[in-house]
Amino acid sequence: MSVGRSGLLSVTPSIILIFKLNMNSEFRHKKKQAKKRIEKLKEEINHHRYLYHVKDTQVISDAALDSLKQELEGLETLYPDLITPDSPTQRVGGEALDKFRKVEHSENMLSLFDAFSREDMRDWEARLKKLAPDLPLHYFCELKLDGLAIALRYQKQRFALAITRGDGRVGEDISSNIKTVESVPLRLRLPETKELRSLGFDRTAAGSIRKIALEDELEIRGELVMPYQAFKDLNKKFEQAGKPRLANPRNAVAGTVRQLDPKIVADRTLEFYGFELLGNLGLVSQEQKVGLLDLLGIKVLGENKSCFGLEEVFQFRDYWVNNKHKLSFGTDGVVVKVDRVKYWSVLGVVGKAPRYMIAYKFPAEQVTTKVKNVSWQVGRTGVLTPTALLEPVQVGGVTVSRASLHNQDEIDRLQIKIGDTVILERAGDVIPKIVSVLDNLRTGQEKTIKVPQTCPRCDSRVFRKKGEVAYRCSSSDCYAVNKESLVHWVSKPGVDIVGLGEKVVEQLMRAGLVNSISDFYRLKKGDLLSLERFSHKAATNLLQAIENSKVITLSRFIYALGIPYIGQETSFLLAKKVVTDLSLSQDRISILEIRKYFSRLSPADLEAIPDIGPVVAGSFCSWFSEEKNLLVLEELDKLGVVLSPDIKAGRDEKGDVEGKNFVLTGSLSGLTREDAKNKIKKLGGKVSSTVSKNTDYLVLGTDPGSKYDKAKDLGVVIIDEEQFKKILGI
Ligand code: IVH
Repeated sequence: MSVGRSGLLSVTPSIILIFKLNMNSEFRHKKKQAKKRIEKLKEEINHHRYLYHVKDTQVISDAALDSLKQELEGLETLYPDLITPDSPTQRVGGEALDKFRKVEHSENMLSLFDAFSREDMRDWEARLKKLAPDLPLHYFCELKLDGLAIALRYQKQRFALAITRGDGRVGEDISSNIKTVESVPLRLRLPETKELRSLGFDRTAAGSIRKIALEDELEIRGELVMPYQAFKDLNKKFEQAGKPRLANPRNAVAGTVRQLDPKIVADRTLEFYGFELLGNLGLVSQEQKVGLLDLLGIKVLGENKSCFGLEEVFQFRDYWVNNKHKLSFGTDGVVVKVDRVKYWSVLGVVGKAPRYMIAYKFPAEQVTTKVKNVSWQVGRTGVLTPTALLEPVQVGGVTVSRASLHNQDEIDRLQIKIGDTVILERAGDVIPKIVSVLDNLRTGQEKTIKVPQTCPRCDSRVFRKKGEVAYRCSSSDCYAVNKESLVHWVSKPGVDIVGLGEKVVEQLMRAGLVNSISDFYRLKKGDLLSLERFSHKAATNLLQAIENSKVITLSRFIYALGIPYIGQETSFLLAKKVVTDLSLSQDRISILEIRKYFSRLSPADLEAIPDIGPVVAGSFCSWFSEEKNLLVLEELDKLGVVLSPDIKAGRDEKGDVEGKNFVLTGSLSGLTREDAKNKIKKLGGKVSSTVSKNTDYLVLGTDPGSKYDKAKDLGVVIIDEEQFKKILGI
């Protein structure tokens, strides 16, 4: 296609004149053809850019598209006056700036109020209803993109200006950088009347929108993001160049748009998503607005959803809490918008944020907390694993109280000490992990973590094999003995924690979550969710079962301790002795009181009980004289475990039904709903159909309904069918 001009230099003037005349008409003819071709090429390239960068579809190969671009570039080099600002070749280029020009926003760029819980959302809705009692509860939910807000201005369809948010009133002109972003059209698409009609605009409104787009100015606002992959690639490049890594994609976007050389920006991948359209366009709803942005050729989120009522909003948000890792870019919440825009002016703005939309944030995945202590768990192979006991903290939507430190190498790498403030991370279903220590927050009181000299379980010697990181207990049966005692504690004749069998105990031990019986009562939901095959439901049920087991009848408690030679019968006799000796009449007695009482008993006192011989008495007294055992009892007491001296046969199996409010949800397998209701009523309990703060128990069958969420929200005790039957005494 290229035409060489150098041949003209060696010819005579007259020939030049003739040639020029010919050339002029030929040139004009060629230029006319070129102009047509340029227009066609621009349209074609732009169409494929739109399909690829806005619609995420690809019809022709990258190589074919490159070839079209090269042809266009060739023609534009020949006829530079045919270059228009909206030509695809104009995305890269432009001179580097020495600084950005300040530009005033046409309307202030606002920020959003945050909500962190369902309660916050209900409060928000209540405020809206107060101000606009007839407000339809129709919300448009969008993902909250974690990037940088920018405003784009188009004049007569053409890209004119891109401005950063700045302080909300004045931003910076970053047009030359934004022009390199392929998903930002350099010319807006002109929607067809019938397309506008299908969005609900009438003929007049459709005409006026088309007229404004063609002849006037439109402002589009949205978010500029860097997809995860592009962020990773960029950091790799930074690393190779010896530059410090960028902290997250949002920082990467901010750093990129502030580059003075647009060529650098063109080299990085940014995407723009629109969610706001200014101007007098006669829009009725946010949904319609997003539809119009789409018709204008702006990339919009396909995940957006119309929701009727907060329940649907909660479902949308919960879905994305669990699935956000499937998106190619970062999100940190859901923006819930009143769909009908006519209410926006009624609801107004408070300070710098509108009332008519709110950011319902996702749970933070990184938080700070303190290391209270470190406990050493003994694994099946005898390896000692350090676990950080943390100040319980909410992370990734659940409470976490411990995190494995794996081994001494990890302790050294983190340079972690007891008392340190640390950054804890839990993303998705990933195991909670300490990522770093904030050593600037040290007070000097922090303690170095020391490997125990003897096994914390069996007191045997601890050793480290040459060339190994791990420390081990030298006793071969330490783990097995410990596991047996834990399984014994939770067993049916023991404290009977429903759902806790040998397998789960082993799983908990392997994960370093449970090492001593008091550890069961320290478990938090987040600790359990990190285990394999532990769903939210399974975790909730287990925690509830543990909670329910915190009141233990005296005889079961004594038996569950697993003292050698103390079986169920002996435990019963001992419990009876306590009740008589202390003339107990109250409902509850603390473990510490019992501990005091038992520690004072001599073997002779015990042998005075019929059926108790010297071996049993000796074993019992020696157990209560060991410091380690007394400490466990103290821990149980601290964790809220109490004893119930009522040992009359039968009653200890049943909870009180009398006066209690029950709600049933889902289907029960062993009995019909009618049966269940009758049984509750017979025992003096009440059954209602809705969960409220007066509900004592929610009985959870399979496939529960929304009552389950409500009960969780209100902190109602949730029990499964097995626990329910136990309470009923069946
Ligand atoms: S509407 C009143 N919708 O969140 C401001 N904002 O914290 C209008 N953001 O500055 C915002 N995704 O940059 C809206 N779908 C979305 C959003 C979104 C991300 C950002 C936006 C805003 C910030 C407010």
